[in-house]
Amino acid sequence: MASAEEGGVKTTPAKIATCRAPVNIAVIKYYMFIGFTFYRGKRNEELILPVNSSLSATLHIDQLCTTTTIAASKYFTKDRIWLNGKEESLENPRLKTCLKEIRRRARTRKSAPEDSESDQQMNGITAEDKLDWRVHICSENNFPTAAGLASSAAGYACLVATLAEVYGIKGNVSDIARQGSGSACRSMYGGFVQWIMGERDDGIDSIADQVEPEDHWPNMRVLILVVSAEKKSTSSTSGMQTTVNTSPLLQYRADHVVPQRMEDMIKAVKEKDFEAFAELTMKDSNQFHAVCLDTHPPISYMNDISRTIVSLVHAYNDFHNRTKVAYTFDAGPNAVLYLLEKDVSDVLSFINHCFPPSDSSSNGETFIRGLAADVTTPNKKLLNAVHFDPRPNSLRYIIHTKVGPGPQTIEETACHLLDPATGMPK
Ligand code: DP6
Repeated sequence: MASAEEGGVKTTPAKIATCRAPVNIAVIKYYMFIGFTFYRGKRNEELILPVNSSLSATLHIDQLCTTTTIAASKYFTKDRIWLNGKEESLENPRLKTCLKEIRRRARTRKSAPEDSESDQQMNGITAEDKLDWRVHICSENNFPTAAGLASSAAGYACLVATLAEVYGIKGNVSDIARQGSGSACRSMYGGFVQWIMGERDDGIDSIADQVEPEDHWPNMRVLILVVSAEKKSTSSTSGMQTTVNTSPLLQYRADHVVPQRMEDMIKAVKEKDFEAFAELTMKDSNQFHAVCLDTHPPISYMNDISRTIVSLVHAYNDFHNRTKVAYTFDAGPNAVLYLLEKDVSDVLSFINHCFPPSDSSSNGETFIRGLAADVTTPNKKLLNAVHFDPRPNSLRYIIHTKVGPGPQTIEETACHLLDPATGMPK
């Protein structure tokens, strides 16, 4: 493999950094505003500004994450990107925006008074040198891309976190991640995170803010029921564009429902009130999908298995006479369940009974992945009360995870996805 070189002299990249960034799953869903005067005039698509604030939990990077390595050198001939092992074009406008914005910030910060001399001149690299850099970006997900598992959120959060590390940019860069993928701004922090919609036309105040850190609610658990790992048919962006243009329910939701719901959700998180958290989560998911159906022509992300999961969760909660589990669905059929650690084994046993894996469907891979949990025969009284004929093969697999930290810098050189000597994929 060729090394970065000039005039026959081998040069290693001036800087190389690797980060891991998490997925987040919204409990109050966001909707993007796309250049339509129906809303607030000038807020536009390129900036990815939302019609309402939103709130999510960051999932643990041990189970789901993107890893990105970025090498920078003035000897690279151009910026290049490899995604999941394949070189892709950098003509993607969202990618270009993130790169441009980080470089703009590096330029304006080159003489920032708060930077120490060592920040300004790291390993003999001056701030001016950085402005000549071209970058090689290599990124991998440890889960299926574009399957409704928020891969773009982890991907853009990781890109921006790694670029910020390479260019030495500190502080809140969630507004840059937002311009890659709206929901990516929330993946810039761990724990429970709100994306404050902001008011300014330039989007500078549309940023993520940590509501509570990852250790605030340590017994909160998450089960992801992967209904389909296929690529989704409607991308969130084109779906949202049609919705913003056609759904009167969206306007009602943004103006009259979400503001109060955000307040109630923040209170439920702060007070660790699971029942309030769970009820709001389910109601918000249902309203988000109602807005999708209110779009003309309608958008339907949930399928028959998704709707069956909704019924089973309500039946489970009814049986226990309290809200022990909440479901939420994004732009795809997969269900994400929020529940407390003490109920994981019981709920998993119930789900496993209703949607058993078939030996051939799992291809020898484990059906329940992630954190350990006991799966046993479910409570007979529950099964009698629910009356459900098991449907084998409906779920591909289940991921058991918890709330986790924001993006992490990985120091071990063995973890770099690019060769530190050449800046090319390993
Ligand atoms: C349904 O952030 O994936 O998950 O902004 O077009 O990249 P783009 O879309 P994305 O939107 C998905 C939104 C959602 C709800 C949410 O996460 O708030």
